[in-house]
Formats: sequence, C-alpha cells, structure tokens
Amino acid sequence: MIEFRNVTKLYDSSAMALDRLNIKIEKAEFIFIVGASGSGKSTLLKLITKEEEPTSGKIIVNNVNLTQMKKRDIPYLRRTIGLVFQDFRLIEKMTVFENVAFAMNIMGAGSRSISKRVPYVLNLVGLEGMARRRPSELSGGEKQRVGLARALVNNPGMILADEPTGNIDPAMSYEIVDLLGKINKCGTTILMVTHDISIVKQFPFRVVEISEGKVVGDTQNRSDDLWL
Ligand SMILES: Nc1ncnc2c1ncn2[C@@H]1O[C@H](COP(=O)(O)OP(=O)(O)OP(=O)(O)O)[C@@H](O)[C@H]1O
Ligand SMILES: [Mg+2]
Repeated sequence: MIEFRNVTKLYDSSAMALDRLNIKIEKAEFIFIVGASGSGKSTLLKLITKEEEPTSGKIIVNNVNLTQMKKRDIPYLRRTIGLVFQDFRLIEKMTVFENVAFAMNIMGAGSRSISKRVPYVLNLVGLEGMARRRPSELSGGEKQRVGLARALVNNPGMILADEPTGNIDPAMSYEIVDLLGKINKCGTTILMVTHDISIVKQFPFRVVEISEGKVVGDTQNRSDDLWL
C-alpha cells in the first residue's frame, strides 16, 4: 500500500532528513515508527501526504507513483488518509460534533449523511454524550478521541498519527492506541510515530526504527514478548 524506494529528502536548509530510505507497508498493517528527534519520522509522513516532495527516489501510495501525480489529483490522495496530531488541532469555537462534521463537510458530504455518520463515529471512539461540548471542556484523552473521530469520519484507508499520545497521560495513551488497534482490525492501515517505548512494548505490532533518515530496525512485536 505504501512503498519508499531509495527516498532522499534534503530540505533547503540542507539538513538530510531522509537518506535513501526504503520501506514497504502492506494494507491493514499497524506500524510504530520510532527514532530520535530529528531522525526523519515526521518527514516520512509528510511525503506520504505530499505535503513535502522527495529530493530523489520513488514513493508509491495506493498503487500510484506520487512523484508523477498531478497537482489536481492530490485531493484524491488526501481523501484516503486520516491525520491525527500531537496537539489535536481542534477548532475551539466548534463543538465536538461540529469539529467532526467539518471534516465531512469539506469533503462535500450532505447534512443527512453527516447527521448519521458523526454520532456513529463519536460512539465508536467512546464520546457518546459529549457531542455538544467544546474542546476546552474536554480532557487531553477526550480531545484526542475527537481527533480520532475526525480522522475516521471519511472512512480513510490509512491513518497517519504523529505522536498522538505526546500530550496525554499513560493510561489514556494506552486507550488511544488500543482504539487505533481496533480501527486497524477493521482493515485500516495505521502508521503511528511515537517516542513512547512503554506504549510500543504493549502492542503486537510492527516497529520500524529510523536513525539519521534510514531504517535501522524493522521488527514485529510478538504477543508473548509484550509487557502486559
Ligand atoms: N521544513 C523544514 N525545513 C528545513 N529543515 C527541516 C524541515 N522539517 C524538518 N527539517 C529537518 O529535517 C530533519 C528531520 O526532521 P523531522 O521533523 O522529520 O524529524 P522527527 O524524527 O519527526 O523529529 P521529532 O521526533 O523531533 O519530531 C531534522 O534535521 C529537521 O531539522
Ligand atoms: Mg516529528
């Protein structure tokens, strides 16, 4: 579903963010991406969404070569991707319902499908009864559940989450990753960047380690090795 072949990314500052990186990710995999600060993790995600362009190499997403993709096709690519951020990025003036509905609205959904789908997704992430609250009235874990609902509402084939548990406490972090795991079970590919090794050790997923823009580790956590 996602393939990087010898991908190098040099920013203008001449920082080598990715250095001939290779990775292959199958549909419906769950992958933790770990590595030191500055190793290139966020850059990897930004290349998948075409927020950044590679300096060289080939990136294939959903069978399409991104370097040859036309500008007008970028919205179609982004429709297949749900994003989750460390700082939630909720709109403070909007209620929980409106934050999630907004994501459907910009994709052109009608009010009838919005009024059906949004409560369903809020229920899925355990936010039933909170639809009318505003972000300022939620805990960090609840805010991130809204972030997950928003990422999910358009039914994307993959979710890219950059440090989604970076601003929430350990118990809530576990719940968020557990939820991502349930979403993954339904067939959604998940890439989650994290510094939280204790979280990584609690789930039976693939772990890709990046150092200085290269993949230096690629292992599968086995259920019997987990810290439970
Ligand atoms: N927009 C940019 N312009 C110039 N250099 C950048 C830009 N974004 C990232 N870099 C540089 O590219 C390298 C990789 O950055 P990246 O954000 O991918 O790291 P990261 O692994 O996500 O780090 P962190 O864990 O701190 O978020 C770093 O040296 C960084 O300074
Ligand atoms: Mg980063």
